[in-house]
Amino acid sequence: MENPIGQADQIVQLFKDTFTASEGEEEGALIGDLAHDLLSKTPRDDIRVFTSQDGDVLRACAIFTRLRFERDKRKAFLLSPMAVASDCQGKGIGQRLLSHALRALQDEGADIAITYGDPGFYGRVGFVPVTTETVPAPLPLSMPQGWIAQSLTDAPLTPLAGPSVCVPALNRSEIW
Ligand SMILES: CC(C)(COP(=O)(O)OP(=O)(O)OC[C@H]1O[C@@H](n2cnc3c(N)ncnc32)[C@H](O)[C@@H]1OP(=O)(O)O)[C@@H](O)C(=O)NCCC(=O)NCCS
Repeated sequence: MENPIGQADQIVQLFKDTFTASEGEEEGALIGDLAHDLLSKTPRDDIRVFTSQDGDVLRACAIFTRLRFERDKRKAFLLSPMAVASDCQGKGIGQRLLSHALRALQDEGADIAITYGDPGFYGRVGFVPVTTETVPAPLPLSMPQGWIAQSLTDAPLTPLAGPSVCVPALNRSEIW
């Protein structure tokens, strides 16, 4: 469900713990800090937070923020970061959460979803690799093969006229 951001501490902890378990302590601290900045510094209209809960326990979270293209009116959201709690992975929770989130974005009139991650996982919910000519990236990409996107409308994903501008919390080179 879309989360009104009433659980910022739990969300930050989920990102910290999950990325510590999968990538190590340094990455866990970085992504926890990123989640904190996104939740505390992003104007409400520019952020959508989707969570999966088991009772009171947070199982997964996906944070989308606006990515603006200076010379293109299409409405795009960038997914970053996303995590499923370590003991809940591999059960379809991540895919279900993203399918729900993408439908909700579509329902509110978004045109395009973009993310930066493993095409092996995100390809399961419709993301396909794109070049930075088609979707200009807001900062230089260290792994351009992870730049993936999808149209949320019937229109094909034709090149977006950049440059693109991400929300301030994502404007740090170490996550790109
Ligand atoms: C990546 C992640 C979000 C996937 O969520 P999940 O709930 O575990 O995934 P699902 O159960 O919905 O889907 C699992 C399927 O995707 C595949 N998959 C999961 N992570 C994958 C990855 N990084 N690369 C390729 N395939 C992956 C699995 O092999 C599995 O396939 P199978 O069902 O055929 O066995 C989750 O494992 C996670 O949080 N990992 C650690 C943090 C991270 O890497 N976050 C994403 C980067 S921002």
